[in-house]
Amino acid sequence: MTTTDPDTEVGRDLLRFPPDFLWGAATASFQIEGATGVDGRGPSIWDTFAATPGAVHEGHTGDPACDHYHRYPADVELMAELGLGAYRFSLAWPRIQPVGAGRVEPRGLAFYDRLVDELLGRGIQPVVTLYHWDLPQALEDNGGWRNRDTAYRFAEYAALSHEHLGDRVRQWTTLNEPWCSAFLGYASGIHAPGVVDPKASLEAAHHLMLGHGLAVQLMRDQAPDDHELSIVLNFCALAVDDDSQLDAARKVDGLQNRLFLDPLGGRGYPRDVVEDTAWLGDWTAVVRDGDLDVIAAPIDWMGVNYYSPTRVAAAADPLAVSGGPFPGLRGVEFLPPRGEVTGFGWEVDARGLTDLLARLQRDVGLPLVITENGSAFPDVVRDGEVVDEDRTRYLVDHLRAVHEAIAAGVDVRGYFAWSLLDNFEWAAGYSQRFGIVHVDYDTQVRTVKRSGRTLAEVIGANAVPATGYDLP
Ligand code: FCB
Repeated sequence: MTTTDPDTEVGRDLLRFPPDFLWGAATASFQIEGATGVDGRGPSIWDTFAATPGAVHEGHTGDPACDHYHRYPADVELMAELGLGAYRFSLAWPRIQPVGAGRVEPRGLAFYDRLVDELLGRGIQPVVTLYHWDLPQALEDNGGWRNRDTAYRFAEYAALSHEHLGDRVRQWTTLNEPWCSAFLGYASGIHAPGVVDPKASLEAAHHLMLGHGLAVQLMRDQAPDDHELSIVLNFCALAVDDDSQLDAARKVDGLQNRLFLDPLGGRGYPRDVVEDTAWLGDWTAVVRDGDLDVIAAPIDWMGVNYYSPTRVAAAADPLAVSGGPFPGLRGVEFLPPRGEVTGFGWEVDARGLTDLLARLQRDVGLPLVITENGSAFPDVVRDGEVVDEDRTRYLVDHLRAVHEAIAAGVDVRGYFAWSLLDNFEWAAGYSQRFGIVHVDYDTQVRTVKRSGRTLAEVIGANAVPATGYDLP
């Protein structure tokens, strides 16, 4: 569906978004805040992991990152200049509860008070993520997400944060990408806390979901009617060459998508996954009576993070194990990317997003929000500008893909670019730049990239061009 913009003489076709579509950008506390040692913040698992030799690219740490902790007023001003209607950011649990339980640090809460007030003062809606991977180290010392108790500690932290900020923040997300926390954190160990034990990854996955459900229950009880509660998942958009590979795709879909979608939807854990994953340990010892009801606590929308498709095929040797985050998975081969890739080596495929959204519309039955989408490229500042044609193309192509899904009837309510700022990209340190705004880490100078200007124009028009990459 294309419409010609009546306001311009150019007559170029524009793809218009729904009038109340929410436009934003996203970040996460550990990736941008810096200031890891100030105002009573306790250490997180990412501080510990980054201090572990060889864990993070070139030994990079969470300092100074973007020093957003001190520079947030200027960053919010930048958001206003870009015309963002919303800003998705996460609270650092160790700023609010330095040891993850009990004592609350007022200076931590005060930082988020200042940030929220600054956003609201600029007419930008805050969308809070409670957990974007920076678990207090004290909880990890007690088993982290392997320990069922962490789910209860998370729910308490969620409820107290919601109680404190809920007079101003309406949009709450519990977890960001629990698959990554569980399988990259505890199975492949490439993320904090760096544990390599598949049984721990099942415990972590279940306790994360339990924590989500407990948090939703507590927040729902104390929330006014206009509050919206959600979770953000990173879906695997599976690509196969032909139908003979569908069984391999089903297995990965089970471990990455249905493992979360089914219990959230009240269907419990997928039977095929439970039956086929002895390598994850004893499910019956981990999942207790009543847990699945808690996890299925109703939410208001689901956040979708999408970057790239995952190519799989049936392995030539059906007994060969996949390794990585799925050390016991047999018969599946993960194939290398094809065609165009980003600077990070991730395959570029906007169609994968349209297809994923159509599938989620069928399987989830909730409004969807694109909570992350973006690309890393090795940008350089020349004459005060960053002309990131590659990221601009990625952005516009993916927005067209979102528009196509909406036009086909998928209920997508908003789009958040990942990321507002170049930042600490986890195990890749500062080597991967995802921002629509460039950050010079030595001087902390921000430079809006061409992609950022394009997003601002898209927001202004509430539309993307049907062809090409320039708005009229
Ligand atoms: C997602 C994370 C986000 C960022 C992007 C590139 O998995 O949620 O923090 O690292 O990938």
